[in-house]
Amino acid sequence: GSGKFFVGGNWKCNGTKDSITKLVSDLNSTKLETDVDVVVSPPFVYLDQVTASLTGRIEVSAQNSWIGKGGAFTGEISVEQLKDIGCKWVILGHSERRHIIGEDDQFIGKKAAYALNEGLGVIACIGELLEEREAGKTFDVCFQQLKAFADVVPSWDNIVIAYEPVWAIGTGKVATPQQAQEVHVAVRDWLKKNVSEEVASKTRIIYGGSVNGSNCAELAKQEDIDGFLVGGASLKGPEFATIVNSVT
Ligand code: G3H
Repeated sequence: GSGKFFVGGNWKCNGTKDSITKLVSDLNSTKLETDVDVVVSPPFVYLDQVTASLTGRIEVSAQNSWIGKGGAFTGEISVEQLKDIGCKWVILGHSERRHIIGEDDQFIGKKAAYALNEGLGVIACIGELLEEREAGKTFDVCFQQLKAFADVVPSWDNIVIAYEPVWAIGTGKVATPQQAQEVHVAVRDWLKKNVSEEVASKTRIIYGGSVNGSNCAELAKQEDIDGFLVGGASLKGPEFATIVNSVT
């Protein structure tokens, strides 16, 4: 693997003040058994609450950000505002924003470039739909999504790539460790050929899609799986703790 294990908890559009207070209290009592990077991503309206109440070294991520400086953009949240409340990361290119909201590669690339230039870390998501996998297009789709980031980002220092096959997200149908490893190797190879050997070896490539307390250990053993982006299971404190501590 590359660098420190990285586990993100993407809470998506879930939670209430009460449930999030409980979850943060679970996180605050979670012992990080190894030197792992842990980042949680609450909905915007709870970012400040979570940032203010986390006591350990867990960092906070937004689930989206605007493509440029704030201003007359009703309903959007700027990178500057995220930084102002202590947010260190943003998830961009998540499949739900690509396929439900309709964000395209260029729009996502611009957001990533802006966030990185302003000093936020970016969790850059890529991944194929089921029909694309079945048509043998998994690598093509992932490489095209990767290229849209590579074409515009100022540097890869603060990027974590999340490979999330869309058919595995929220379905309980996790990719097998071999399926995930195969794509992670291909992504690393693409970085080597199209960016640099150094970026290929240093960039963390994490897996997302139905990761849970029972399948995380096998996945974590794969050479090129450098962590996870967890959805559903990140809403349960004890299970998320198991995942965070799954690397040995
Ligand atoms: O960002 C997280 C992924 O979309 C995975 O979600 O763990 O609920 O399948 P999930």
